[in-house]
Amino acid sequence: NIPVVSDEQAKSDAARKLKIGIYFVIWWSLNVVFNIYNKKVLNAFPYPWLTSTLSLAAGSSMMLISWATRMVEAPKTDIDFWKALAPVAVAHTIGHVAATVSMSKVAVSFTHIIKSGEPAFSVLVSRFILGEAFPASVYLSLVPIIGGCALAAVTELNFNMIGFMGAMISNLAFVFRNIFSKKGMKGKSVGGMNYYACLSMLSLLLLTPFAIAVEGPKAWAAGWDAAISSIGPHFVWWVAAQSVFYHLYNQVSYMSLNEISPLTFSIGNTMKRISVIVSSIIIFHTPVQPINALGAAIAILGTFLYSQLEHNMIWKQKVTVYIMGPCG
Ligand code: 3PG
Repeated sequence: NIPVVSDEQAKSDAARKLKIGIYFVIWWSLNVVFNIYNKKVLNAFPYPWLTSTLSLAAGSSMMLISWATRMVEAPKTDIDFWKALAPVAVAHTIGHVAATVSMSKVAVSFTHIIKSGEPAFSVLVSRFILGEAFPASVYLSLVPIIGGCALAAVTELNFNMIGFMGAMISNLAFVFRNIFSKKGMKGKSVGGMNYYACLSMLSLLLLTPFAIAVEGPKAWAAGWDAAISSIGPHFVWWVAAQSVFYHLYNQVSYMSLNEISPLTFSIGNTMKRISVIVSSIIIFHTPVQPINALGAAIAILGTFLYSQLEHNMIWKQKVTVYIMGPCG
């Protein structure tokens, strides 16, 4: 039997697609603005542990104000919710600070080229830690991802080991964040916006003592004075912009994760990286050699290939369940 799609159904599908499309465009635009201001701030004020903390603090305060003024209804949470959120927050904090440390050392485009290799980490973690098996084609799709990232790394003009390792650690941490948060968001008692708000607050609590220990108020005060005297008083607006836009893009990405499959999400994330890589190269006049750009293009194509294979795998699983029933 071919399912009949009513006019109503078609209209609501189109409206859903439009909504997701709008989420994606907003998510990518906010992310580009965040990356530009984040790098401008880090160039003048190289204290990534503080800027990471400020991003979480801005988001946490915005959400507390929204809850207090009832602009957004506060979520009803219990101890089990916070317990399930704790590992997500640890992974989010590590991934966030590692990416920011990376961007303080290398070009934004380089950090994002390495971060486009996240699916490779996802497969390796699923295989070696969770014991999940994949068809050979999925492993083969890792060759262009890993090869492309490696080519981009060895031909990067301003290569820096801390910058490279920061992006790699961020990849690993975010794979765990995604695994844990998929579990935590199951049941959907807390929607995407509030889930991310709680995540920011818990991450802020975790990160603050480490930021003080690693960098500390003395270094921050000296760095701040130097930044204000070289950039001018409007430097404070750059810091505000990077902090607020960090929260906004993540909030929109979690809101869209609520609506779409993790697969569509990861394709959206890869496309987001392309817009960040291209816009940051233009804005910061990042020197790019053709071989370096080739490496980035191969890695990104590999990521698309991987998404396609994952899509086919999920589709096959659905067909098997449909034909054989859920017990196979
Ligand atoms: C961060 O600071 O958390 C990173 O820039 C995040 O990177 P992503 O959201 O693009 O993975």
